[in-house]
This record gives sequence, structure tokens and C-alpha cells, in this order.
Amino acid sequence: PASDPGLVERARKAKEALGDRLFVLGHHYQRDEVIQFADVTGDSFKLARLAAARPEAEYIVFCGVHFMAESADILTSDAQKVILPDLAAGCSMADMATFDQVEECWEALEDAGLADDVIPVTYMNSSADIKAFCGRNGGAVCTSSNARRALEWAFDQRGKVLFLPDQHLGRNTAVLEMGMSLDDCVVWNPHRPGGGLTREQLQRARMILWKGHCSVHGRFTAESVDDVRRRVPGVNVLVHPECRHEVVLKADHVGSTEHIIKTLEEAPAGSSWAVGTELNLVKRLAGMFPDKNVSFLDRTVCYCSTMNRIDLPHLVWALESLSLGEVVNQITVDEDTAHWARVALDRMLALP
Ligand code: 13P
Ligand code: SF4
Repeated sequence: PASDPGLVERARKAKEALGDRLFVLGHHYQRDEVIQFADVTGDSFKLARLAAARPEAEYIVFCGVHFMAESADILTSDAQKVILPDLAAGCSMADMATFDQVEECWEALEDAGLADDVIPVTYMNSSADIKAFCGRNGGAVCTSSNARRALEWAFDQRGKVLFLPDQHLGRNTAVLEMGMSLDDCVVWNPHRPGGGLTREQLQRARMILWKGHCSVHGRFTAESVDDVRRRVPGVNVLVHPECRHEVVLKADHVGSTEHIIKTLEEAPAGSSWAVGTELNLVKRLAGMFPDKNVSFLDRTVCYCSTMNRIDLPHLVWALESLSLGEVVNQITVDEDTAHWARVALDRMLALP
């Protein structure tokens, strides 16, 4: 079993043997059994900034999902090897926008005479080739902690944004943080001819949102908020911007995982919080702040199944293999894709 003290000891030993040659990054949604071995923890933005923080480390073990490991490979030197302990740790949201689908959408926008009007912005939660597509076409990457700044930058360049692949983050940022109306947003459905939109709708829209979503955050509903308000008097509802618009509208606070942690750190003792994000993090926060009443927003269990693929047995296997000189599960991005994805990532990292 994952909690097996023998496995904990093996991970500790392998990590010790690798010393400074190893740098372990852990996303906040990782299991506790894994996060205990992370040298740094963070949300997607913090981990992207920190990936290159240890240039001397030969191996970067990324405890997170595939698109994060790809970004780490792009942002680190050629000599550094990025390892994802389980290759099945993907992201269903990232899989909702494939390169061919995005190219098809772009061609339709060109056909509608909008080529010079639209700038593509992709959420970090996308494959490297989607980031490269944005880099090649003048656009940028954003994360949930800088979406507003990235969109403001994008609207300074052109009048419309194609926002990939999370419709909720795009809509919530545009409407709740930037004062746009719901009518300024349209949704491009990659499974319908022409995205399911008319030329007039495309011409009128300011935000063209891709029809993608997070299968974890998408499970919270307006009813989850009403229900917790009935159950917990005086509760503060704190949610991630990947939640549906109606959920964010009903919540008291919204922000990335790093923001959620900071909000709870600063919350007064005795206050009650219902948190709408991934369950590993919510459980950890409940343990970190025993003086506050921290609960999960929904009654049903809501882990990210792909984040959870990285468990202690996979981590031990990766670390022990590396300590024996065997590089397993290396994530590499080809040179051209990496170049253009880096252009889009650097535009994000340069945001004020
Ligand atoms: P952040 O790390 O930007 O909060 O994103 C959450 C998420 O879903 C990561 O997969
Ligand atoms: Fe993807 Fe959502 Fe899981 Fe994040 S929490 S990795 S967006 S499915």
C-alpha cells in the first residue's frame, strides 16, 4: 500500500542518494504521500516560474500532470531531464483542444476576415503544441493567477481573444474581472461545423471561448453553494475560477490554488470556509488550519483522477530508477514546438 512505511523509506533513501542532482516539484493537488517529497510546491504559475530555479539539477521530477512537465522541459536547459512518474497523468481539459481542431478554428476565423483581429491566449492547461500555436500567432499563455493581466495585455494587441481551452476561466475573467458582458462571449464547439457559430457571431464577439472545461471543478454546481450555505451558517464560499460561471457568481471569493491557500492563511480563527477545488488540497488545508472550519464545497468526493495517478509507488520507482542511472518517463518537447511554446510562456512570465 502507498502508506507503507517501507515505501516512504525507499523514497527518502533514493532522494538522499540523488542529492543536488534531483529537484522535485509538486502541484498542490498531489497526494500527501507524494507532496511530502517535493522540494517546492505550488500552483501552475509558481511551478512554471520555479522549474528553472535549480540549473544544477540533472533530473526534475514533476509531480503533477503532463502539460506541466512539458512546460518544465521547455523552461529548463537541454541538459536537464524532466520526469513524470506516471505517463498516464494527463489532463482531460488539455485533451479537449487538439492542434488540428485549433488550426481548423483559426482557418475559420481567417475565412471570416478576422485574421488580424484575433489573438490566441491559452491557459497553461494545454499541450505544448497549443502553446506553440499561440506563440507563433502573437499570443501568450496564462494561468489562473494571471488570466486578467494576460487578457488585458492581449486586448492591448488586438480587439478579440480566442481563449483556449477552458471556457470557464475565460468567461469568469472577462465578465467578473474585466467588466465584459456575457453577450461579449461566444463558445466555439470543436465538434460542430464552424464551431457552431455564425460569421456574425464571430464578428460581434470579443471573447471566443473554446468549449473545454475541467472535469473536477466543473462538478460544482450552484446547488452545491446553496446546499453548503444551508448546512453551515455564516460559511464563506471560496472557489477556483475553473468552476462554472453560476458557481463563481454565487461564491464569496474566487482565485487560483495559491490564492485559495493565502485566503485561508489570512482568515480569522473560528471562521467557516467551503472550498471548491480539488480534494487533496482541501483536505490538506483542513489539516493545516485546525482553528478554522474548512470543508469541501460538495458532498461528493472530487479528486482529480489524473493528478492522483502520481502515487508513492510510482514516485519510488522513478527515484530509484534515477538513482541507478536509468532515466524513466522522460518528457521531451521537440525543438520547434518548444521554441514557439517558450515564446508564449515568456510573454506570460514578462507580464507585470
Ligand atoms: P492552478 O494551479 O493554476 O490553480 O490550476 C489548477 C489546475 O487545475 C491545475 O491543473
Ligand atoms: Fe486538468 Fe482539472 Fe485535473 Fe487540473 S484539476 S489537471 S485542469 S482535470
